[in-house]
Amino acid sequence: MTVTADLQQGTGVPYPGWADEVRELARQRGAVLLAHNYQLPAIQDVADFVGDSLALSRIAAEVEADTIVFCGVHFMAETAKILSPEKTVLIPDERAGCSLADSITAEQLVEWKAEHPDAVVVSYVNTTAAVKAETDICCTSSNAVEVVASIPLDKEVLFLPDQFLGAHVRRTLKRENMHVWAGECHVHAGINGAELTKRAEENPEADLFVHPECGCATSALYLAGSGAVAADKVKILSTGGMIDAARSTHAKSVLVATEIGMLHQLRKAAPEIDFRAVNDRASCTYMKMITPMALLRSVREGTDEVHVDPELAARGRRAVERMIAIGQPGGGE
Ligand code: 13P
Ligand code: SF4
Repeated sequence: MTVTADLQQGTGVPYPGWADEVRELARQRGAVLLAHNYQLPAIQDVADFVGDSLALSRIAAEVEADTIVFCGVHFMAETAKILSPEKTVLIPDERAGCSLADSITAEQLVEWKAEHPDAVVVSYVNTTAAVKAETDICCTSSNAVEVVASIPLDKEVLFLPDQFLGAHVRRTLKRENMHVWAGECHVHAGINGAELTKRAEENPEADLFVHPECGCATSALYLAGSGAVAADKVKILSTGGMIDAARSTHAKSVLVATEIGMLHQLRKAAPEIDFRAVNDRASCTYMKMITPMALLRSVREGTDEVHVDPELAARGRRAVERMIAIGQPGGGE
């Protein structure tokens, strides 16, 4: 395979010694490199920390480095800036957006709040800084259930923007007074129940690891409930939760319903397990904008710097801080 083909498939690096050069430039800049689990394998391998959005937010809040290079999508880098306004936050390509974050605007949220003036607003971290500024508590897929459970039962909840994650939380907590925005991520919505059912039938011994943003999360639970798949084999997990589950499962094969970048960390965590994507076309174009060359440019030139309006950041900070406290050992509310 040529270097160019390698790079297009996310398996390659631009030239030998590339990773050492990135690390040296990051060191000179006093920068720490964070990478989300959906990043290209080469980016994950050069990063100082790889994780899910909650783990990376916690690291961004605590890390000592003056500069954070966030290899992920824009809302993740914005969240780091909200938590650490005194730090320089870089994202290697500022065009790396998120279709889910785009599914609600701050104006739409303000209108929704006006219809439910006493409700507590829970926003998934996949939202813009302007939406976070209108939010009471943020959550990620790994602590959404705990965040909603922390809200008194007599309080209405507005949960946004992901309908599948919202349905998962409502189902888990059996909470009726929770309204869910009808947003979705185009990558996860595309992993559908029919596909999951077919793959599960073809691989009856396999565990199913399903991200709660997936269109197939309900089908996965139906398969478990109907006995088509043993209930203990179906796991609804954040990307970080999938790594923990990979280390503890006794299964020889696992079907993975999420963005395909996840397979790299899973295979590193448990090389003896056969991990297969439920949908191998489930690739997030935004995550894949963070190429090795973009990262190199970022650490060399200090691009692209992330700015959040200080007034918006101040209004959103409490909601993000509550998110990183909930689900933390000794930190729950
Ligand atoms: P995690 O919080 O599970 O890392 O997911 C982030 C995300 O963008 C999922 O699409
Ligand atoms: Fe956003 Fe979906 Fe990409 Fe995650 S996979 S960053 S939710 S578009």
